[in-house]
Amino acid sequence: MSDPNPDLATRGSLAGRVALITGGGQGLGAAIADALARDGASVTVLDTNIDAASAVALAITERHGVVAHAVRCDVRDRVAVDAEVSRCLEQGGSLDILVNNAGVSHVGDRTESVSDEAWHDSFAVMVHGTFYLTRAVGRAMLAAGRGAIVNVSSIRGVLPRAERLPYATAKAAILMMTRCTAGEWARDGVRVNAVLPGFQATPMWDQDVADGLVDATAFLAAVPAGRLGQPSEVADLVAFLASDRAAYITGACITIDGGVTSSLP
Ligand SMILES: NC(=O)c1ccc[n+]([C@@H]2O[C@H](COP(=O)([O-])OP(=O)(O)OC[C@H]3O[C@@H](n4cnc5c(N)ncnc54)[C@H](O)[C@@H]3O)[C@@H](O)[C@H]2O)c1
Repeated sequence: MSDPNPDLATRGSLAGRVALITGGGQGLGAAIADALARDGASVTVLDTNIDAASAVALAITERHGVVAHAVRCDVRDRVAVDAEVSRCLEQGGSLDILVNNAGVSHVGDRTESVSDEAWHDSFAVMVHGTFYLTRAVGRAMLAAGRGAIVNVSSIRGVLPRAERLPYATAKAAILMMTRCTAGEWARDGVRVNAVLPGFQATPMWDQDVADGLVDATAFLAAVPAGRLGQPSEVADLVAFLASDRAAYITGACITIDGGVTSSLP
């Protein structure tokens, strides 16, 4: 029998858990932090933009009554990542959930014109950052014998597109990191999964449209569901994967895209 109120059904499912979300200052990361807090986790919102992260943490505490912290950290900086993870562990006692969400969108150049900066920055944020966080937090999770990591990839990790080489290649690397690490750590009680959002209504999308990098009408026409995805929908999937209800799911790479990757002409 289906639950009459699926929202309420998830509340409390993460009670007592401590979560760290990268890039949580806006967009998908902010929605993910909110969903984890709604379900009972205390959260740390990590972002280079401390003002945005602080606003998200404050709103979360007011809305859900859980502990929420904001930290300024650049996921490209290994030394800073290790220091922040240590500080989170001292502060919260454990880290049970890690969401590697921070991302940057370099769009618009064919391969022969991609700049060193676009290439290196894409990898620094999305590949190196995800690795640094996974390694640092993973050590604590392995010692504790439990943990759930969710990596935010993209449909671009499996669906190529012209003029998106750095982004798509970095997102594909995240999928392989997810599966390699999941296979290694499953016996130690640590699960690692990835989500692949399609076209989402976030500031990143708005910016790409405003910059003329994305033709909103053409993209929407390619979505069988006929609309953009909402950040809360990705957040609910992440919260599920982070919870014990997903205890047997690891190494999964799950599209959430309104059918885009299932409807190529
Ligand atoms: N928006 C979409 O349509 C879409 C689709 C698929 C996947 N994604 C992925 O979802 C994730 C979030 O996307 P979004 O649309 O919310 O993006 P966004 O640009 O709205 O937010 C990204 C956040 O990450 C932070 N950030 C960027 N670089 C950082 C760094 N080096 N260290 C720490 N924080 C950093 C930014 O300050 C920002 O708060 C990204 O990984 C993105 O690639 C987005």
